[in-house]
This record gives sequence, C-alpha cells and structure tokens, in this order.
Amino acid sequence: MSTNSMSRRRFLQSTGAAALWLPTAVKGYTSSEMQALYVDGVMQEDVSKWGLDTPSLCVDLNVLEANIARMQSTTASNGIASRPHAKTHKTPIIAQMQLDSGSVGICTAKVSEAEAMFQHGIEQILMTTTNVTPTKIRRAMNLRESCDDFIQATDSPDNARLLSAAAESMGMVADIVVDVDPGGHRTGITPGQPALQLAQLIDGLPGLRLRGLLCYDGGSQHVKGFEQRKNQTLERLVAATGTYDLFQQSGLSTEIFSGGGTGTYNIDHETRGLTDVQVGSYVFMDAQYIDIGGESDAEAYNDFGPSLTILATVLNAQYEGRATTDAGAKSCTINRPWPVVKGETGMSYTSGSDEFGSLRYEDNASRSYEVGDKLELIVSHCDPVVNLYNQMYAIRNDRVEAIWPIAARGMSA
Ligand SMILES: Cc1ncc(COP(=O)(O)O)c(C=O)c1O
Repeated sequence: MSTNSMSRRRFLQSTGAAALWLPTAVKGYTSSEMQALYVDGVMQEDVSKWGLDTPSLCVDLNVLEANIARMQSTTASNGIASRPHAKTHKTPIIAQMQLDSGSVGICTAKVSEAEAMFQHGIEQILMTTTNVTPTKIRRAMNLRESCDDFIQATDSPDNARLLSAAAESMGMVADIVVDVDPGGHRTGITPGQPALQLAQLIDGLPGLRLRGLLCYDGGSQHVKGFEQRKNQTLERLVAATGTYDLFQQSGLSTEIFSGGGTGTYNIDHETRGLTDVQVGSYVFMDAQYIDIGGESDAEAYNDFGPSLTILATVLNAQYEGRATTDAGAKSCTINRPWPVVKGETGMSYTSGSDEFGSLRYEDNASRSYEVGDKLELIVSHCDPVVNLYNQMYAIRNDRVEAIWPIAARGMSA
C-alpha cells in the first residue's frame, strides 16, 4: 500500500465512529415521523442517527461548527473575509451560522437560490453568475427591489446595459461586480482593459452602482499538492490583481474583490487586493477534496472534517466478498471518487446503480455487514448530493438535534 493511501486511510478512520455503530434492529424513523417529533425547533424524543430510515442525509454538528470556526479564524488572521458559497449547502440555517461567525455575506449561483435564501432571512447575497435572459434579469431586479444587499455579477457590456435598463425602469440602482475570467474561459470578461472598460461603463450607467470585481479560479481548487495548487492559483490571479490596480487607478470601486474556494482559502490572501474568499465545500468536505492534500499533510486534506454523510442500509449480504445497500446513484450521485465508508478499512463502495450501492470487501476488511445493518458514507462531492435531499438531519454525538430544510434544494434556475 502506498504512503499516500495509508495517510488518507488514517485520516478517514480518524473521522469515523464505527465503534458507535449499532448492529441491533432499530425502529427506522421515517422522514414524516421525524418531522412530527420535531416541534418548534426541539426534538421531542431522543433519536439516535442509527434509528433513521435510510437513505438519509446527516450533518455532524461538532464537525460543521469546527469547520466554520476554522475558516473564520484563518481568514481573519490572514486579513481577509469569507463570503461562503451557499450553492454547497442550499440551507439558510447554515448560511446564518456562517454569517454569525463573521462572514461578510454569502454567494449564490442561481437567482432562485438567492430568492430562497432571502425568503428565509438571509440578506447579504452576492450572485456570482451573470443573469442573461429577460426572465432572470426581471427576477434578479425584483429581488434587488426588496433586498438592499443583493449584488449581481456581470461579464459583458451588453449585459450591463440590459441590467441598467431593467433597474432604471423600476426606478432603482442595482449593485454590480465585474466577473473577471481567471483563464478558464467558463465565465467572466478578459482581465485588463476589457474588464476596465466594462467597469467604466457600469460606473456611468444610470441604473447600476459598481462595487468591485470577482474572479473565481475553479480550475485551481482541486490541484493535488499544496505547493502546486498555490503556484497555479497565485499565477492565474496575477491578471485579476492587475485589473484591480486599473480599477483603483481609474477611481473605480474595489470595495469587493472576491474569489477563491476551499482548495485555496489559505493561499488567496497572497493575491493583493483580494477582500474575501467564496468558499463552499469546506462546511461539509467530500472525498474529492480529501484527496488533494493540504499544507500540513501532503496526502489528506484535513484542514476541515467531513461533516456530511449519507446513512445507508444493507439489503443483501449473501454473496461472498460483497454486500448491496439502498444508497445508489439517486442518493449519492455518480461523481468520483466514489463515496467512502466512514470509519472502516478494507472495503470500497460504488454508487453507479440507480437504487443500489455496492460494497466490496478486500481481504483485510474491518467488518462484514449483515442484512439490515447501517453504514455511513462520506460523500463523493457535496454540492450535488445535497441537491438530492429535502432535509438534512443535524446530529450531535450521534443523536438527532435538529432537522434542517434544504430550502434551496432543486433551485437550479
Ligand atoms: C463561483 C464560485 N465560487 C465559489 C465556489 C466554491 O468552491 P468550493 O466548493 O471549492 O469552495 C464555486 C464552486 O464551484 C463557484 O463556482
């Protein structure tokens, strides 16, 4: 076995609590039974997470809180802020926890996500995707009318003119940041003169107020190895800093210079001018991020713990070397790397089949499961998994403490 997989394994085991696994037949509380037991934000019965019907999405509160605290303390000591991306959790309660910890706002990817957050009391919202259709622009401006702290991104002069006309027709001024392309050509305008000209246009349009820029370098977040990741992202953001300088020299607002993510949260402050990181996955973490390696551990990215898990039940254990569970693609997605069985060694999991998960034992498997047994999975990639569930169970020390609606689940428009 390579050192790499040993270190990763040690980390995953240390996050696990296999010893708390209860093999006895448990009641299996359905979602509606759990809802009935959750009155005015208080659980009326002591329910172990192992008593939940499956598949269920769970978040470990101790780990979640530690992740939020670590992000806050690291960014604060590096002299920047966090503006967490709510596309990851889609859950207003978590957005509020992030704001309470000191985040300057949240981000959303879609206008419907932003609407859902606002409806649930979240007001400091930066939408990082440009709205291009009349429908989306109308929705964004309607939201802006009621939400003073809603900021929108744009990446082209034509779009800026449309946004300004829409805002003006409603008798208001909308807040805008320029989305600058870090080189991946996914979204954003070319840094330098094109971005400067767009900012100058926005500054002169009657319906818009320029607030600064954003530059999210998605292509660097999952680069394996801390030094490689650091070198790549700092190099790719040089042009964004140049753009920031041009804005400043031209007297334009640079109040916001937002970028970065979970993979670069402790690197981004070295990009001069950057004000905040748009970190998403750090709240939950997932198998994709664990594999990239961190500054202190080259093999496992353990700055943040995996707080999000899926509970599954074994349906079939009668064949040698394997077992089948009830959590397949519809519960786990088909993203890679596959989910990891928490707290176990010597087994692998795949979720390629719609309804069924497949567990395979190696010779040194720590356990072999029986029909009806439950197991816990660290998710492959957190964002799309969250989008499969209506609610998540908030767990502390293995007991259900709360049930959180994933209010922006399915809000992809
Ligand atoms: C624009 C933008 N900002 C921030 C993020 C958050 O990234 P991460 O989950 O890697 O922290 C994403 C994720 O895809 C994104 O698209």
